[in-house]
Amino acid sequence: MRCLTRIQGLHAFYRATRNPISCYSSSAYPSDAIKVCSNLIRKFQNVGIEDTESRFSAEYIIAHVLGKKMFHQVPGGQIINEAQLTRINELAMKRMERMPLQYVIQEWDFHEFTVKLSPPVLIPRPETEELVQYMIQHVGQNKSCRTFLEVGCGSGAVTLCLLSKLPWMTAVACDISCVACDLTLENLTKHQVQGRAVVLNMDFKSAETMQYLSRLGPFDIIVSNPPYIPTADIDDLDPEVRRYEDRGALDGGTDGLDFIRHLLAVSPMLLKKNGRLWLETGLEQHKTIQSIINSDSNCALEFVKSIEDFTRRERFCLIERY
Ligand SMILES: C[S@@+](CC[C@H](N)C(=O)[O-])C[C@H]1O[C@@H](n2cnc3c(N)ncnc32)[C@H](O)[C@@H]1O
Repeated sequence: MRCLTRIQGLHAFYRATRNPISCYSSSAYPSDAIKVCSNLIRKFQNVGIEDTESRFSAEYIIAHVLGKKMFHQVPGGQIINEAQLTRINELAMKRMERMPLQYVIQEWDFHEFTVKLSPPVLIPRPETEELVQYMIQHVGQNKSCRTFLEVGCGSGAVTLCLLSKLPWMTAVACDISCVACDLTLENLTKHQVQGRAVVLNMDFKSAETMQYLSRLGPFDIIVSNPPYIPTADIDDLDPEVRRYEDRGALDGGTDGLDFIRHLLAVSPMLLKKNGRLWLETGLEQHKTIQSIINSDSNCALEFVKSIEDFTRRERFCLIERY
């Protein structure tokens, strides 16, 4: 995990702004890394990007163009040549248009894995890293836990990380977005775990997908970070999220639980007995999830526990099929 701000959910992912974008030429910049960085920070602040974010963005863009991961790896006072300055300016312009930093540099780290990213596929969040960490701890060395299904795989970060850390497991990863499936396949291939995964570009809610997945299952684990934001809250999201990330990855319907309801309804058919469903959810959704499970006597699921994220809010559910 790169040491970016500990972002507290999608609403705080970036600060909102509507300020105009300014243009500038590369010749307007001084040419050593520290001065270029200060200049970029000021430009980002001028378009309304919050101070800490401005610094992170400037440092990451410069480090990226200079072939480093972190700004502190750039030698102090390093001279930046004309070509590098032009590239830094190109990327800075995108950031000033409020493109998320992760899309600007087209990659980000998920645990220790650098994943390729491209809009509008959802940028994996630090909370999801935590979810995966809990899953890995939970599986431990249990080699009889062999198969998992990821529903809504996005960039493929979750599947990639689980396959890498649990090398005896195989996966099916599915997403309705073709761009997401291509990215998943690219990231799995980059990290050489594609041989243990099937990537399906399918609508999880369709009957055809259910038939297909039933033939590939049953699975030991289902994991999903589904769309869970209530529709009415989408417009309040920060501009980086609203403008660049796929609405279909975010919008969970009126109460945010449309997709989760469907997952709960079909999981018993896809999970083995004692198989587990791991979910990332929005805030304050767990009571409703429990009551959905408890109100359906045919559901064959048991809500095992809620788990808090690093901000001490209930964000992950562990559910078991009996
Ligand atoms: C919140 S994103 C999670 C992406 C990735 N797993 C992550 O954590 O970064 C939800 C994903 O679900 C996918 N999705 C939405 N509706 C879907 C559907 N009906 N069938 C399959 N995937 C769907 C979206 O395309 C998106 O990639």
